[in-house]
Amino acid sequence: MVRSLQIACANVLPGEVFCDTLIIGLLDETLNSVEMARAYGNPLATLLSLMVRDQPECCQLAETTIIHNTADYGSKRIVIIGLGKKDKLTLDKIRELSAIAIRVAKKLKSRTVATAIYRNHHNLSDAAISIIQGAILGSYEFNNYKTDAKSNIIEKIILVGPDLPSDQEWLLTLNNAKVIADSVNFARDLTNHPSCYMNPSQMASIAQDIASQFGFEINVLDKGDMEKHKMYAMLAVAQGSTTPPKMITLKYIGNQQSNDLIAFVGKGITFDSGGISLKPSEKMGDMKGDMAGGAAVLAAMQAIGHLKPKVNILAIIPCTENMPSGHAFKPGDVICSMSGKTIEIISTDAEGRLLLADAVTYARKLGATRIIDLATLTGACVVALGNITSGLISNNDGWSKEILRASKQTGEKMWLLPSYDDYLNQIKSDIADLKNSGGRMAGTITAGVFIKQFVGDLPWVHIDIAGTSDIDKVSGYNVKGATGVGVRTLVQIAQNLSTNAC
Ligand code: BES
Ligand code: MN
Ligand code: ZN
Repeated sequence: MVRSLQIACANVLPGEVFCDTLIIGLLDETLNSVEMARAYGNPLATLLSLMVRDQPECCQLAETTIIHNTADYGSKRIVIIGLGKKDKLTLDKIRELSAIAIRVAKKLKSRTVATAIYRNHHNLSDAAISIIQGAILGSYEFNNYKTDAKSNIIEKIILVGPDLPSDQEWLLTLNNAKVIADSVNFARDLTNHPSCYMNPSQMASIAQDIASQFGFEINVLDKGDMEKHKMYAMLAVAQGSTTPPKMITLKYIGNQQSNDLIAFVGKGITFDSGGISLKPSEKMGDMKGDMAGGAAVLAAMQAIGHLKPKVNILAIIPCTENMPSGHAFKPGDVICSMSGKTIEIISTDAEGRLLLADAVTYARKLGATRIIDLATLTGACVVALGNITSGLISNNDGWSKEILRASKQTGEKMWLLPSYDDYLNQIKSDIADLKNSGGRMAGTITAGVFIKQFVGDLPWVHIDIAGTSDIDKVSGYNVKGATGVGVRTLVQIAQNLSTNAC
């Protein structure tokens, strides 16, 4: 549940700050005693030096050591987190290590946690952003449905160091880092909720709350509206369920002068049973998270509402369940998409690309000039890239480079897959224009190439997050369950494009 941490800054020596736990990161390298004394002051510098002398393993990557109070410093205890070798310490590693340390502090029932920060080879505010985000993301817990949840809640995180800035710009940087991490946790919440509490209408009502809070334009199409727009690919998926579908759009105008309108399209299948092509029952419950792309788009819009980048964004989230029933669409059916292209249904479980076909057609109709779609689209992507990297398909080098650049900045790993026209043969149908499954070979690519048939000449990038949107055990700043993947990269893209406009 999102209960956000308070962020503060203390321009003092780490030993002087009063808190429940003080986190100190130590690099795996020979200590410079002058530097240590400057960064920590005495007696802390002496204590840390003895510690490293007697137990050098404490500096190894992700190693944690607890030192209980000796009454010589303000914190009740210290958690040492090993930072490993300096040249391997990326900003994303700092984010992970901050998460690991905060979970130790949380286990120790700390309410106020301070993290010592000093100049290393990263710029101070970049390191601070990673520390704050790691702490907020790493301490996330979802226990909305537990009646006896006994979680330890960290209330405040203090960045502490002898030479921290305290100007407005620095405080704004810290607050922006918090806004983004809170939005990732918001996406995690939406995704972790079961489908009985996160159906298309509930997604629409959350979108309405965001729109009201930030003054975004909002439009929610119901079944009748979708019929008027001839969104029959989307409607085919929806027709098996008694839960009504919604096509949600939000519009944020941050740059009146520009005609550029970036569409963020997020797959919003609130439950994917597979439909008539029913999935095996084992792990079917995980398919409550088949709206993770839609959740990431909604959460990114929330962050954008706070950060106000100078760009224009159109968010489109096609939401429906995919269910088997007497009304359900069937393998062998032919449907006519909003674009006019006809599609033969091979598998009702390849439903995501059907909604996305209509959603990107709608994006074009609403004046989008570039498109990014995010979708838990294929099991094949999980096989190819595991839960580490999201798969990209694109029709435009410049646009995919922009997305990959943002992905490198945030640490959300992404990898561009090929989308040669040769793959199109796999999804040509004998009786319609296209078929919705290209078989087992290159499943992620053929799904992407399918969507590509609907984007026309607009620059487009598809991000397959089937493998990265949830994990089954805690790792770095992700905890078991939804990861909120995509939020940070979408926000980063908006911020990057905003800077370019200035
Ligand atoms: N939502 C699934 C993809 C998925 C699989 C997401 C595993 C997360 C984890 C998607 O709708 C689906 O069922 N895809 C099929 C496509 C196939 C029938 C062409 C798949 O990947 O098996
Ligand atoms: Mn499916
Ligand atoms: Zn699906």
